[in-house]
Amino acid sequence: MTRSALPSSEITPESVYLDRRRFLAAAGVLGAGLVVAPALGACAPAAADASQQGSLGTPYGLQPYDKPNSYEDVTSYNNFYEFGTGKEDPKANAQQFTTKPWTVKVEGLVSKPGDYQLEDFLKPSKMEDRIYRMRCVEAWSMVIPWRGVPLADVIRRAGPTSAAKYVEFTTLYDPKRMPGQGMRYLDWPYNEGLRLDEAMHPLAMLVTGVYGRDLPNQNGAPLRLVVPWKYGFKGIKSIVRIRLTSAMPKTAWSEAIPSEYGFYANVNPEVDHPRWSQATERRIGQFRRIPTLMFNGYADQVASLYSGMDLRRNY
Ligand code: MTE
Repeated sequence: MTRSALPSSEITPESVYLDRRRFLAAAGVLGAGLVVAPALGACAPAAADASQQGSLGTPYGLQPYDKPNSYEDVTSYNNFYEFGTGKEDPKANAQQFTTKPWTVKVEGLVSKPGDYQLEDFLKPSKMEDRIYRMRCVEAWSMVIPWRGVPLADVIRRAGPTSAAKYVEFTTLYDPKRMPGQGMRYLDWPYNEGLRLDEAMHPLAMLVTGVYGRDLPNQNGAPLRLVVPWKYGFKGIKSIVRIRLTSAMPKTAWSEAIPSEYGFYANVNPEVDHPRWSQATERRIGQFRRIPTLMFNGYADQVASLYSGMDLRRNY
């Protein structure tokens, strides 16, 4: 549903929403999910540092450039190749896509496999609002207030067996409803994967909403993955299947162009994409480029997942 189609009473103005977030953050109510002050290191530009000192040191301090993007930015500049390859295509082409009813299949190395209606699948979990920095591999970024449930919750309920090492996610395959699937630029359906310990990390989320409203189709309705320390292509949209496996799953982009996209997809300013630098990024809606932070600024929370790994080889 587009914003204009919503009755105005249902829209929380962004300013009110964000003021509420600031209040909750100041009160210490919010968990680790809220944007945490990135540790400004050698890569931060000197001029920017001085103006940012004020927000450092507070556990939930936002950088000035970490202002959440507008609802308009978040829902009109998208990647969702099932609805076209241009940034404006998903919004233009996904409006008629129906997401009710929606079934999620849980299978593989779990004690409780099954087909679940989305509502039943999510109901036992507590919905949470979290603002995350999101970094696309194309060197642009946004700050997005998501609503969803911890992925770990859902996986725990499925009961992974001791042989489970990875989690594979798959998007709906239905070329009649997703016209881009008639084109062969990816090997449909889109899929993605995480190592089980990555999937169990408290920052990883299954998302159903943005800015406190249901996800618009172009953002991956009704259910998508959000992994804020990885490049955006990990954030698979319109998920219909979650499978626990012992072998590393194939992923859409690493299958399509293995020399450019790896399984890990961790945001790493030190490893350039073969065709462009990853050292800086353009925050949508801002003019100045900003430094890209290791693990997208979530190093304190997630770096230990990769200790001992060569992150140049495992890109
Ligand atoms: N999921 C599916 N099924 N198809 C896609 O083309 N694009 C990915 C990811 N999830 C994609 C997808 C990429 S490249 C990005 S950057 C993010 O979705 C964009 O999410 P957003 O449009 O909500 O910002």
